[in-house]
Amino acid sequence: MAELLTATDKRTHYCAELSAENVGERVCVMGWAQKQRDLGALIFIDLRDRTGIVQLAFDDATDREIFQKAFGVRSEFVLCAKGSVRRRGEGAINKNIPTGEIEIAVDELRVLSAAQTPPFEIVEDSRVNAELRLKHRYLDLRRPDMQRNIIARSRLSKIARDYYAEQGFIDIETPTLCKPTPEGARDYLVPSRVHKGKFYALPQSPQLYKQLLMVSGFDRYFQLARCYRDEDLRADRQPEFTQIDTEMSFVTADDVMKMHEGFLKRVLKEYMNIEVTEDFPRMPYAEAMDRFGSDKPDIRFGFELTNLSEILKGCEFKVFSGAIENGGSVRAINVKGGAKFSRKEIDSLVEFVKLYKARGLAWLKWAETGDISSSYAKFLTEAENEAIKTAMGAEAGDLILIVADKNKVVFDSLGALRCECAKRLGILDPMDFKFLWVTEFPLLEYSEEDGRFYAMHHPFTSPMDEDLPYIDSDPGRVRAKAYDIVLNGTELGGGSIRIHDGAIQSKMFEVLGLSEAEAQEKFGYLLDAFRYGVPPHGGLAFGFDRLVTLLLGLEDIRDVIAFPKVQTAAELMTKCPSEPDAGALAELCLAIVKENE
Ligand code: AMO
Repeated sequence: MAELLTATDKRTHYCAELSAENVGERVCVMGWAQKQRDLGALIFIDLRDRTGIVQLAFDDATDREIFQKAFGVRSEFVLCAKGSVRRRGEGAINKNIPTGEIEIAVDELRVLSAAQTPPFEIVEDSRVNAELRLKHRYLDLRRPDMQRNIIARSRLSKIARDYYAEQGFIDIETPTLCKPTPEGARDYLVPSRVHKGKFYALPQSPQLYKQLLMVSGFDRYFQLARCYRDEDLRADRQPEFTQIDTEMSFVTADDVMKMHEGFLKRVLKEYMNIEVTEDFPRMPYAEAMDRFGSDKPDIRFGFELTNLSEILKGCEFKVFSGAIENGGSVRAINVKGGAKFSRKEIDSLVEFVKLYKARGLAWLKWAETGDISSSYAKFLTEAENEAIKTAMGAEAGDLILIVADKNKVVFDSLGALRCECAKRLGILDPMDFKFLWVTEFPLLEYSEEDGRFYAMHHPFTSPMDEDLPYIDSDPGRVRAKAYDIVLNGTELGGGSIRIHDGAIQSKMFEVLGLSEAEAQEKFGYLLDAFRYGVPPHGGLAFGFDRLVTLLLGLEDIRDVIAFPKVQTAAELMTKCPSEPDAGALAELCLAIVKENE
């Protein structure tokens, strides 16, 4: 039966706060029984709270009733224990835990709650499958590594709040029931009961509200904002996530980048004790694509792309020359040390690039022994083969990987392949933090499928002044005042300087194929606001969950979110989404139509 706390049961210490310095003190601790060991005349209980573990001891000197109670304690019982701190016997010292030199000789014990045997053991690095962990997330969160992650997240949000408050940013909450925000993903819709047949959207980001706050004169805005996007999930994406969202007035792109770089340096210093004094490197988008095949390059390692098109444009091997003739290119990476991959591993790399729509992967393996094997060499002349080796700086131990295709396919596949090879070679240190600003993104992206341009960032991003003349004649070449902050191959955040000139905004809508009436319908309030005096402004949003994930050296964003969703956007513990009750639907005048009806 559960015992109650009495008025005098006041915790004096968290478990792991106790050390040899407390020997002789009477203390009161509370927490969960990690395990109970019954040695006959002696009972030990490891008591755990969010700080760690302390040992409770019961022996000959313990009151019999309390000894009996300790005898009945099972894993995960919730206890309140009082007693005096004493040194452990010589042989019993545990150097592995901070409280390993001491124990509490318990003289008062309350079992505040019994516990069933949990579905998995509450220990560090549980090997239990993800589904079971998420079903019982409250238990999963009891595990020390998950506790550390969630507590780290809290510390990092405090650093963010402190930094931006010190820099004069004002924390302002924006609505989460709103008109759709144009970030490009699908919206989550919320039906209105009052306005039958009408819907709110959950914000994909507070983009337009924060711009309106600049019109209002708040000058520097900050918010830890919940955002919702109905898109396909991956290890670094959740349908609801948190942004460190900001906006500033009277700034250039350089001002915005410097401000946020200051935050990241502060995080490294306060959280990791790493002092970074030099500026983060910056790289235009075009260079990032050309060298790394990616707009979020991981710059912890080389394996950069080399364009072999000049060498191979006239070659007999149609796979190569054909790709070039069709407007594509032939590019390659040199995976240093890659010659140790077996034939089977190379075959799996061939399969890997198919995920990125590459039709194939040509390779040359130059073993340490000097032996060379290759999938393509026999189709090329001696001179062409030599020219490739020279261009690639190839030597013994290397693996050359070549993709010939449309440029997009070449970039996507080689960009991903260089990371995959680095991963397989085990050369990536998650605690080596390499930040990079990627700048000068294209303003627009052409969709072959839809036959039209889309905004690459969002429709309010400003074109670069020098490219403005091409907006009608060659919209695809216009670059934007947009920047992403990239950390070790992950897009950590992005932002831009916004359009604050009505004429340019109208032009932008026109290029996006939005009629004046449509623009007015969708964003009229913003366009109206801009007529009343709008300061030049720009901002950036960090993906906070991603930031925490990377700083902790983790791979799965779910490990830093208390109650995350799975791949299908469901939450396994509460079993949502779920069917609404019929009454609620009737009240909203909504009916569910089966998919095939
Ligand atoms: P953007 O769409 O680039 O910009 O988003 C900013 C950052 O948010 C993170 N992010 C996500 N994190 C987890 N799960 C997701 N589904 C997800 N989607 C995005 C990424 C990304 O870099 N309003 C603009 C910002 C601005 O212009 O100021 C915006 O939302 O880390």
